Amino acid sequence: MKIALIGADGQLGTDLQKVIPAAELIPLTIKDIDITDLNRVEKVLLKYKPNAIINTAAFHRVDDCEADDSLALKVNATGVKNLCQAALKNNSVLLHLSTDYVFDGSKKTPYTENDCPCPGTAYGISKLAGEQYIRYLLDKYFIVRSSGLFGTRGCMASGGLNFIELMLKLAREKDKVRVVSDQIISPTYTLDLAKKIYQLLQTEHFGTYHITNNGKCSWYEFAKKVFELTNTKVVLEKTTAAEFKAKAKRPAYSVLDNSNLRRLGMDDLQTLDQALVAYLKEKDLLK
Ligand SMILES: NC(=O)c1ccc[n+]([C@@H]2O[C@H](COP(=O)([O-])OP(=O)(O)OC[C@H]3O[C@@H](n4cnc5c(N)ncnc54)[C@H](OP(=O)(O)O)[C@@H]3O)[C@@H](O)[C@H]2O)c1
Repeated sequence: MKIALIGADGQLGTDLQKVIPAAELIPLTIKDIDITDLNRVEKVLLKYKPNAIINTAAFHRVDDCEADDSLALKVNATGVKNLCQAALKNNSVLLHLSTDYVFDGSKKTPYTENDCPCPGTAYGISKLAGEQYIRYLLDKYFIVRSSGLFGTRGCMASGGLNFIELMLKLAREKDKVRVVSDQIISPTYTLDLAKKIYQLLQTEHFGTYHITNNGKCSWYEFAKKVFELTNTKVVLEKTTAAEFKAKAKRPAYSVLDNSNLRRLGMDDLQTLDQALVAYLKEKDLLK
């Protein structure tokens, strides 16, 4: 199988490159293909004729999406529609990355793939629009929603820092770190996500999937685990989303349930605690 990987140098893209055998992989960065440019998308993808396209590319600085929602729609919706058109012409499978932010966070139990999305941010709206183009245009697709990604490359959209690296940086620079305790998420290790994506691509069980490490925590609890496991001495205090005053109102609860994977007998992702230890070991940060 030939797999075109878009966003190959991003956080998830980097781990997908580790997992997908080199003989199958066509790694593409924004220099090779900008998904907002339909001509380029078709030219590049028609040249390589991949059996599958994985799209990790997104405009996903959540607060910036509020300020520039037209750019969010251009990348996260029209860009995805462009990929659908190329996938149709090539008869390629499209596997697209989406987000827990398609939910508004009003539920108190984990969201399954059957829950109705109702995003409360410009980012979430644009990502849901991307998903909807795929469902409207394609039969052979996987929409994979995940949450709070951490990988050794770091999130390119956040200047190369993921949440863990940001916490460790703040702890080096400040005596006290304040972290939001009223947003509950299911953080996910990109290496685990990458392995599951590759496994899913070997099947023809097309559809929508939640893929997260098993477990949940608030951002505060996540920071606490990071500081404990790295033996970082810093004062950690709770704050609230209201006090933090981010531009985008993130979901208060966006834990994802891997129901569709479970139905296929494929939900063997490690727990969040195991994944965090694995990540810290990989970065040589475990104390
Ligand atoms: N990070 C999270 O916590 C999180 C949580 C849930 C879901 N997701 C979703 O997971 C996916 C991957 O996230 P990530 O953390 O790996 O992101 P990332 O590190 O920011 O990587 C995204 C990659 O896409 C590239 N890209 C951006 N705009 C592009 C465009 N118009 N055309 C082609 N490539 C473009 C970026 O290149 P440049 O760096 O050169 O711009 C980067 O290499 C995204 O779809 C995101 O919505 C992320």
